[in-house]
Amino acid sequence: MVILGIETSCDETACAILQKDNKRITILSNVVASSAKLQEKFGGVIPEQAARQQLKFIIPVIEEALKQAFPKSGNGVGVDAIAVTYGPGLIGSLLVGVETAKTLALVWDKPLIPVNHLTGHFYANWIGETIPTFPCVGLLVSGGHTDLVLFQNYGKYKYLGGTRDDAAGECFDKCARILGLAYPGGPEIARLAENGNPKAFNLPRPMIDTDDFDFSYSGLKTAVANLIHTSEVKKSGYTSEVKRNLSASIEQAIIDPLVKKTIKAAKKYRVKTIILGGGVAANDKLRSELQLSAKRYLLNAEIFVPQKFLCTDNAAMIAAAAFFYQPLNDSVSLQADPNLALAY
Ligand code: KG4
Ligand code: ZN
Repeated sequence: MVILGIETSCDETACAILQKDNKRITILSNVVASSAKLQEKFGGVIPEQAARQQLKFIIPVIEEALKQAFPKSGNGVGVDAIAVTYGPGLIGSLLVGVETAKTLALVWDKPLIPVNHLTGHFYANWIGETIPTFPCVGLLVSGGHTDLVLFQNYGKYKYLGGTRDDAAGECFDKCARILGLAYPGGPEIARLAENGNPKAFNLPRPMIDTDDFDFSYSGLKTAVANLIHTSEVKKSGYTSEVKRNLSASIEQAIIDPLVKKTIKAAKKYRVKTIILGGGVAANDKLRSELQLSAKRYLLNAEIFVPQKFLCTDNAAMIAAAAFFYQPLNDSVSLQADPNLALAY
């Protein structure tokens, strides 16, 4: 079975072709064009700009994915089904992918499988040699989402909790902006944090000890802004050492609640498998601290994190998810849903 996936929910235009046999899911091609560099100028994504870039990139990206997967023919004859992200995301961006996928399904006479972008991030863990087993706890950490989920089976999951305000990635991005770093801020903060002291600044970790599985990140950016504009940093000057220490302290303050509540969820539901998804899952410190904590508190627990290029937005994860879902009976009726929740 070969599925062509399309992802256009934000500022990445992506197409990937994946094959599934009875052993594993493999990537035949995986093409991502990003307008992030353009968005960097504005310090965040401008929806109108992102949609225009989607339109510009979508056909060349699909053509390139076909060429790489099928160098001889370069066409879609070898594709069995088409998968597409239909939400959540920016409506102008989503429409480009959804309408293109519907057209391809119609012209090629192939089934169309709609995929939730958030679920897609988790299915990046199903690409490759070893795959997670159910039940498992899933932590989704991206620019727009911070959610904990209990997966019972394919397509069957229970929402445990999530952020009450900003997402973890959003917090990285907003703090980075305050620090005068480039967008997206997560990788920038992580790079500076490597040579900084995470204990240098005492930053808040709201809700870290609450009884639920919720998070709160909006207070952190305010604390960072206050720190820079007032007392401590003003006194010592905004040196590169201060910048590194601030980055390390911010990274640690974002990671601590994620690790604590994920481990707590795994303990409560007695699961031995944890899966990560979303752009922030590319963060090395989060990956290693979760491994360490799981080793300490959940004996023999297994942590699955997608390869880094599969953490940030891509179409391979969308095609991977589609292997476990049913196609639509009437593909022309598919509508993009910018507010789609974390459920199929
Ligand atoms: O999943 P994603 O590509 O897009 C959304 O669906 O939101 O996630 C993007 C987010 C951005 O906030 C970015 O700063 C963050 O993921 N990110 C990171 C790292 N790489 C990307 N955050 C921390 N450390 C990283 N290495
Ligand atoms: Zn995403």
